[in-house]
Amino acid sequence: MPTYNEKNNLEELTKRLSEALQQLEYEILIVDDNSPDGTFQEAERIQKETNRNVKAILRKKNPGLAKSVVKGFQEAQGEKIVVMDADLQHPPEKVPELASKITENTPVSVATRYKQDGGINGWTKFRKTVSRGAILLSKIIVPEARKSSDPVSGFFAVKKDRLKPEKLSPHGYKILLEVLAQIRPEKVEEIGYRFEEREKGESNLGLQHYIKFLEHAAECRLKHHGVDRYVDPRKIIRFMEFGAVGASGTLLNMLIFATTQSNGLHYLLSGTLAFGGAVQWNFFWNWLITFNKPSENIREKYLKFNSVSIGGFLIYQSILFLMIGVLNQPELPSNLLAIIGGFLWNFTGSEKVAFRPE
Ligand code: GDD
Ligand code: MN
Repeated sequence: MPTYNEKNNLEELTKRLSEALQQLEYEILIVDDNSPDGTFQEAERIQKETNRNVKAILRKKNPGLAKSVVKGFQEAQGEKIVVMDADLQHPPEKVPELASKITENTPVSVATRYKQDGGINGWTKFRKTVSRGAILLSKIIVPEARKSSDPVSGFFAVKKDRLKPEKLSPHGYKILLEVLAQIRPEKVEEIGYRFEEREKGESNLGLQHYIKFLEHAAECRLKHHGVDRYVDPRKIIRFMEFGAVGASGTLLNMLIFATTQSNGLHYLLSGTLAFGGAVQWNFFWNWLITFNKPSENIREKYLKFNSVSIGGFLIYQSILFLMIGVLNQPELPSNLLAIIGGFLWNFTGSEKVAFRPE
């Protein structure tokens, strides 16, 4: 169980778990990211004072839900590993049944909200729709996800000898999706469960959360299908995102170019306005989507992005001048060609200068 600020849930959770598991051989790994509320100390206390087979693990660097789960994968002694949340949203009483589904040809079993007696308590219609959308998208992107009705579940079991924890990408947090992509199970068993309302606190699902989710799904697809031997899958994803942002910037550019042209502006001036506008637009979306909202040195990145774009702009203007001014070609196709020239320059520059990945 990965934990972050779950101190007040551990007593009840480990008690119910050990009661449910008493007929079995088990250990309960609590992997904590040094929570400020003292979750780790509480886990240590339970480890010492009870016979619930708790093992408290403290992580001090690189916090993250998936990284903690991977740490748990590495530390676990048993043949079967169950991953679950520590906030009582996943009923501990379901663990024995979930684990019992793992067999020689069923290396993964999933507790699902979408089958049999499964369900969700206390979610708005909007949240349910979003969750459904995420599942649909992950099934489209990752073929192995189609074997489960809830491939984004945080409650699942896996056969340890089929896992290669060191090959997972622990920056993603839908860890099951990647486990499925890595193992490519011949069969997945499922049991239904009710996802309980969170007792306190809000889990935080921003737009950023969904962008990263989609990127991780794409990475699972590319990586576990061998692409990573040739190129870093994350670079491919960035290129596609930069392209999508660039395409939207192109539309904006065309719109500004066409409107100002029809108002009789000189084409080079039109081009300046169109290109300048598109660069601001592109900066924002690339910052948000392509480079995942880096917070440090934002002003410097903005300046560098604009500086790089001056090079793109010169290429763009030269092509415009050549096509329209010299070769007398029609305006809009010339503008499109000029945009492509500027785009290639800007992508390279953004990668290497403005948003250089760490
Ligand atoms: N170690 C560690 N580090 N644990 C974390 C971190 C972290 O950075 N962030 C969250 N956790 C722990 C929480 O303490 C909890 O035990 C569990 O991970 C899930 O976090 P929640 O914040 O409660 O997630 P949720 O309720 O929004 O989402 C859950 O349900 C989804 C739908 O089934 C998770 O299980 C998702 O994985 C799942 O997709
Ligand atoms: Mn939760």
